Parts: sequence; structure tokens; C-alpha cells
Amino acid sequence: MAAWESESYRAGLNTSDTRSSEDASRILAPGFTEDDLGLDRSLRPQYLRDYLGQTRVKDNLDVLIAAAKGRGEVLDHILFSGPPGLGKTTLAGVVANELGTSFKATSGPAIERAGDLAAILSNLERGDVLFIDEIHRLNRNVEEVLYPAMEDFVLDIIIGKGPAARSLRLEIPHFTLIGATTRTGLLTGPLRDRFGMAFRLDYYSPAELNDIVVRSAMLLGVSIDHEGACEIARRSRGTPRLANRLLKRVRDFAEVRACGIISEDVAAEALSFFEVDNLGLDFMDNKILGLLTSTFCGRAVGLTTLANALGEDADTVEDVYEPYLLQQGLLQRTPKGRVATERAFEHCGIAYPGDLAKAELSRKDSQKLLSVNASEQLVFDELEI
Ligand SMILES: Nc1ncnc2c1ncn2[C@@H]1O[C@H](COP(=O)(O)OP(=O)(O)OP(=O)(O)O)[C@@H](O)[C@H]1O
Ligand SMILES: [Mg+2]
Repeated sequence: MAAWESESYRAGLNTSDTRSSEDASRILAPGFTEDDLGLDRSLRPQYLRDYLGQTRVKDNLDVLIAAAKGRGEVLDHILFSGPPGLGKTTLAGVVANELGTSFKATSGPAIERAGDLAAILSNLERGDVLFIDEIHRLNRNVEEVLYPAMEDFVLDIIIGKGPAARSLRLEIPHFTLIGATTRTGLLTGPLRDRFGMAFRLDYYSPAELNDIVVRSAMLLGVSIDHEGACEIARRSRGTPRLANRLLKRVRDFAEVRACGIISEDVAAEALSFFEVDNLGLDFMDNKILGLLTSTFCGRAVGLTTLANALGEDADTVEDVYEPYLLQQGLLQRTPKGRVATERAFEHCGIAYPGDLAKAELSRKDSQKLLSVNASEQLVFDELEI
């Protein structure tokens, strides 16, 4: 069993503060769901040659790994950052495989006490890769044990309590720490500085996702043609995890309704059936765009107001739903609030009111809107109108 499949590792994951209860039911939820476990087992690339896309990161790693191996040295610590599902955990496993060393995986929230980390570190062997997922969620006192371990490969342990307490310094084998985070901004400066290398993973292009869909289909024994793969790739929001998840659902649909072969038409029909539209937006994304374009008629809407209208909390809206809409140029964050762009109006099939029209919409109209939406318990912050 791969380390990332173990219960203890999973126990510390997917507890993101911002994840809503609705999230797990969303086919396009970016985070890991139980549904992905089987896919992870069969589809995770094991070596750099199977890891598609992210060419710049792969080229760098290739050189660094070859150099470390050539000199017989232990690879420097690495930090991978980027949105969920882009392949950080996968890449950490790939690095260990390429180095030919063993891979020990844990996660920030799973290491509760400094002693837990000390136990993990003292059980490592020279050259091992220790992977800490969600490293931004490490406790501060645990983090302090990590600093000397990363820098000087020593553990500073306090034995005893009070005046009798004394500090003991233990040497540990040289190891490579690979940290992964979706939130680089939450990493403390001292921790960030101790990584020799930091790589940010970007969203994948449709062509790269297309290659991933074709590879996954081959491994799963699914019949798919080029256009069918393109259709899935186009709606996967630049994210391999979603491409694999959509492929699995489309396969189910194709088996029941279309003799098991995924063509462009079958893929399009299946994805519409699962409410994934041609831009890769699901019902929640469209609900947000519907509110901004139709209910609020293109006005700037404050985050709290938008979150209340959706029945979600503001952090979830900001961290889970907005990034893709922003990236697609469907939504803008302005000092006055969130605004739907011209592209969003076009997507919703509503005439774009333009800036002038927006300015002419009076405050009275806003009040009317409020009463219309009273049943949804809209809290309309006056400052945000
Ligand atoms: N470059 C790639 N080529 C092929 N498949 C990939 C690639 N990157 C990721 N995948 C697939 O996507 C799935 C999700 O990847 P992974 O779990 O590594 O993402 P992650 O960045 O660690 O996500 P999270 O932030 O939620 O932990 C994996 O099961 C893997 O099969
Ligand atoms: Mg991961």
C-alpha cells in the first residue's frame, strides 16, 4: 500500500477549514474525496516520464535529482505549492522513486505534538524522502523541532521538567523534506526559507489534460477517441484530479447509455447530464454567476452579501468557488465588491448592461431586489451595494 493511502495519513487531510458540507457532493470539488481513492491507486504516475505537463518543474527536478545522485548527496528540501489536485503529492512520490529512496508521508494536521515529529525523524534513514502535506498547518511548537532538523540534521530534545530540565542534541540521518501546500501565504517565513527549492504548480493546458485523460483511459481500459478526450479535458478546469474524476463518471454514463465508447457527443451528453457545462462550471458556479448577472444586475456585490445569498460562508466562497471564476475572467474582485464580467453575462445569455447602465441603476432598484429576495434571508450590507 502506498504511503498516501494509509489511514493515518488520510486522517490528517481534507479537514480544510474552508471546505463546505456541499463540497463532497460536487463533481468538481477540487479537494480529495473518498471517490478519488481508487483512482489515485491506479492512476498516480510513478516516475517523471509518466508525469505529464509541468515541464519547467519536471526539467528542474530532473537536473537536481541527477546531480544529487551523481554526487552521492542527499537532495535538498523541496516545497511544492499550488491549488488542489494539480499533482503535488504525486510529484513528491515521483521524486522519491526517481531517487530510489523510501517515501514516508504524513501531513501537517496529523503531527499533533513535537514528540510525534521527533519519532518520525529519528526513524528515517539516510536519503529518505519525508513528505509533509498541508505543511502550512503544522503546529508552531512542532515547526520549531523541524528547523534544526532541516538545517543541521539534529533534534533538540528537552528531557525532564522545571529546573532539572536539560537539553539533548541528537543527530539524525540526512533526509529530504518535501512539503506541499495549497496556501504558500500561510507558511511562516523561517520555514519557507529553509527549503532549498520551491516550485509552484500551475493549472494544466487543455492539451496537457488531454494527454492525461488518454493515459488514464488506457490504464482503466476505457475506449475513448481523441475528440472525446478533448471534451473531458476542456471541462476539467486545468486540474488532473478533475479530469480523472470526470473520465470515471463519463465512463459510467457511456457504459449505460452508449455501448461504452466515449466519443465527443457521448462525453458532451454525459457532462451535461452531470451538470458540468462547456466552460467546466457546475451548478454552484452558475448560481454565483446567476446572482451577479441577474439578481444583482451586474452591480458590485460584497463578499458577505454574496455568501449569504448562496447560503455559504465567506471563506468557502473566496477559497473554493471564486478562484476558477477569476481565472476564467468571469468574475472580478473590485474595492466595491464582486462584479460579473462581460464574459459572464455572455455565458449566462443575459445582455451586458455596460458600465453606464450599471451606474444608472438606482438605489431604489436595489431595495426592490432586497424584498424580492427576502425569502432567501438576504442580508444586504448597505455599504456593499
Ligand atoms: N502530471 C500529472 N500527470 C498525470 N496524472 C496526474 C498528474 N498530476 C496529478 N495527476 C493525477 O491527479 C490526481 C491528484 O493528484 P495529487 O493528489 O498529487 O494532487 P495534489 O496537488 O496533491 O492535491 P491536494 O492539494 O488536494 O493534496 C492523482 O491521482 C494523479 O493520478
Ligand atoms: Mg496532495
